[in-house]
Amino acid sequence: TAISPFVQGLPKVELHLHIEGTLEPDLKFKLAARNGVELPYASEEEVRASYQFDDLASFLDAYYEGMSVLLTAEDFYDLAMEYFRKVARQNVRYVEMFFDPQAHTSRGVEFHTVISGLRRAQIEAREQLGVDSALIMCFLRDFQAEYAMATLLESLPYRPWIIGVGLDSDETGNPPAKFAAVFAKARELGYQLTMHCDVDIADSAEHIRQVLEDVRVDRVDHGTNVLEKPELVEYMASHGIGLTSCPISNTWVSDGSKVGLLTELDKRGVKVTVNSDDPAYFGGYIAENYQRVVDEAGVDKETLKRFARNAVDISWAPASLKERIA
Ligand code: HPA
Ligand code: ZN
Repeated sequence: TAISPFVQGLPKVELHLHIEGTLEPDLKFKLAARNGVELPYASEEEVRASYQFDDLASFLDAYYEGMSVLLTAEDFYDLAMEYFRKVARQNVRYVEMFFDPQAHTSRGVEFHTVISGLRRAQIEAREQLGVDSALIMCFLRDFQAEYAMATLLESLPYRPWIIGVGLDSDETGNPPAKFAAVFAKARELGYQLTMHCDVDIADSAEHIRQVLEDVRVDRVDHGTNVLEKPELVEYMASHGIGLTSCPISNTWVSDGSKVGLLTELDKRGVKVTVNSDDPAYFGGYIAENYQRVVDEAGVDKETLKRFARNAVDISWAPASLKERIA
């Protein structure tokens, strides 16, 4: 993708980025060699060629398989540092990044190992690259709510390092309401709340209703399905509840980039933002995602600036930081 000078120069804030989704094939091979992990691929090219997803499930298979090389705190540090170096070059000022502790604790890697590696990278990124960041702990919705609750409690010693909680992985059959108690507890503990809500399934409208009315999240990840419920579009607009859209990701695991829906929501007063989801798997970091919005819908510069400004507004950064990154 050719990135226009305007998109390149736009100061950017990323609010929907799975750090495990930034694991590029070359780092995957490097970490596999370092850790003595055998990969079912002979080369980086073979890995890349296998990234052909036609739905969320096929992506998630590759995503979780890739994590087998992440074992030590240094691995998580390297993963995050590579990401920060890349996006510093895309004029990214601030990132609220998801991490999936259960994708690691479920295979025997300790919570502390994961978060201490990420934390060290965050500190270095701020000092050396001028990129600020915060962590959002995601629960895997295809696991039981009890495991999410246990993970929430396990996070407490690291409470100051984590800004909020989210919900990701396979949405089919795993509605927001399944985690209502976990999220109520998280709110009590002072965490900000967000959830993925984006499936193209029959229950889509009911899921977005639960996210907004029952769980009462502070923002929604993806969430363009809110258009199925006009009264909820109005609710999001009037309460300043924004959504984090990921155009390139949507072309792989959803039914299209949804750029047209973004401009519709923007017109109706919802705070829309542009993000990258799992850039190593979907082939585009945040600048490529902004560029996609331009290339596909000819969105003008004022609108792009508004999307970028929305990300500052709906971020959970303290006021002093918001001023610095705007
Ligand atoms: N959707 C749902 N869960 C995820 C994703 C995604 O795009 N990336 C990582 N976990
Ligand atoms: Zn996501």
